Amino acid sequence: MKTFPGAENPLHNSAAPHVLAVFGTRPEAVKLAPVVAALRAVPLVTDVAVTAQHREMLDQVLRVFGLAPRYDLDLMRSRQELPDLTARILRGLQPVLRSARPGIVLVQGDTTTAFAAALAAFYHKIPIAHVEAGLRTGEKYSPWPEEANRRLVTVLADWHFAPTEQAAANLRREGVPPERVHVTGNTVIDALLAVVQPGYIFQAAGLEEWLAAQTGRRLLLATLHRRENWETMGGVCRALRTALAEFPDTALILPMHKNPVVRAALAETLGPAAEGPEERLLLCEPLDYADFANLMARVYLIVTDSGGVQEEAPSLGKPLIVARETTERPEIVARGGAVLAGATEEGVWPAIRRLLTDEALYARMSAAGNPYGDGQAAGRIAAVLGRELLKPG
Ligand code: UD1
Ligand code: UDP
Repeated sequence: MKTFPGAENPLHNSAAPHVLAVFGTRPEAVKLAPVVAALRAVPLVTDVAVTAQHREMLDQVLRVFGLAPRYDLDLMRSRQELPDLTARILRGLQPVLRSARPGIVLVQGDTTTAFAAALAAFYHKIPIAHVEAGLRTGEKYSPWPEEANRRLVTVLADWHFAPTEQAAANLRREGVPPERVHVTGNTVIDALLAVVQPGYIFQAAGLEEWLAAQTGRRLLLATLHRRENWETMGGVCRALRTALAEFPDTALILPMHKNPVVRAALAETLGPAAEGPEERLLLCEPLDYADFANLMARVYLIVTDSGGVQEEAPSLGKPLIVARETTERPEIVARGGAVLAGATEEGVWPAIRRLLTDEALYARMSAAGNPYGDGQAAGRIAAVLGRELLKPG
């Protein structure tokens, strides 16, 4: 375990009770960075422990937001499997929680890190705050393992920060006491608004040049990574390739997740060996958050199985094709800003074709609005936890 004493946290040596934010993957880091900043602004002593379930993709976010973890378990392994990952997180957090004794452990979302960190905190009888609580598909294996992870955290958590009214209603329906549920908006909107800027210059090598070469074309942006879609991901890629072939005025950029299973599936259908218009297709490394967010703001439409991207795209007025069978983020589908197309070629290709040919549909989807927050979610969370930790006695 690496430790970085007190960096970025001037109050660290205070005797006051403190919060320990525990996260490990890219989306958790994006969504907790604003919360850590807001807690420190209260001011509340707030430390960061990263499991490093992700390595490169986590470090990209830490760099963008200038976050320095006090504890780094550094436990990612290539092709890690869920039981082993869970066990290593539990074991890795034991000495951290024992020595740090935080007043509150803060977790986010539905990853294995979120679930295992909540369980570790529970074993140490440390209260738990859960950011992005209450999202549900109702299908145990979809998304897998996230639907179950999120439900398990709900059972363990003491404060439940729901991004939307619908998520809060899910929690109350499951018997979570209403006074423990706070509707805050999603902190991803806080993060997004912090990095999207007009006239942004992209940092990734060659990206500005590639974008310049696509001038006049409609840009499609795609991301794919979900475990339950590994089998069918090739079909979604074929749909994207067909779109490029049928619509010569389009170009596709797909920042590849670091997971080797995902990369193999993408390379098989979209890689150099596959036939097609290579100058209009860019498969690239994961982009850092500032690049990715500003790219979303530039493109014509987005095809994704990502959770976070489903929340971000509507804020930028971008129509979404969700390449999944279910979504725990139904609000944007209900508003008409996203189409739940399925994780197959048969679902995704007609959805892309419709959006590329039907201008009225495109305009309606772009104008659906954003149901996920106003950029003030982190402050609301910090206010609740501040009242709790700083109350006398
Ligand atoms: C994880 C989360 C998923 C979340 C996703 C965000 C679980 C079970 N899954 O899925 O909920 O949506 O992150 O991206 O918690 N890898 C690297 N470098 C990285 C990141 C990953 O090499 O920076 C490779 C490693 O080989 C690793 C593999 O990807 O073993 C899978 O990572 P893992 O965190 O287990 O699963 P994800 O599919 O990323
Ligand atoms: N993202 C990024 N770079 C990329 C692709 C995505 O920074 O190349 C961001 C994206 O804006 C969102 C988050 O990563 O905030 C989503 O991560 P991912 O799709 O891996 O996980 P999920 O949200 O599905 O759990």
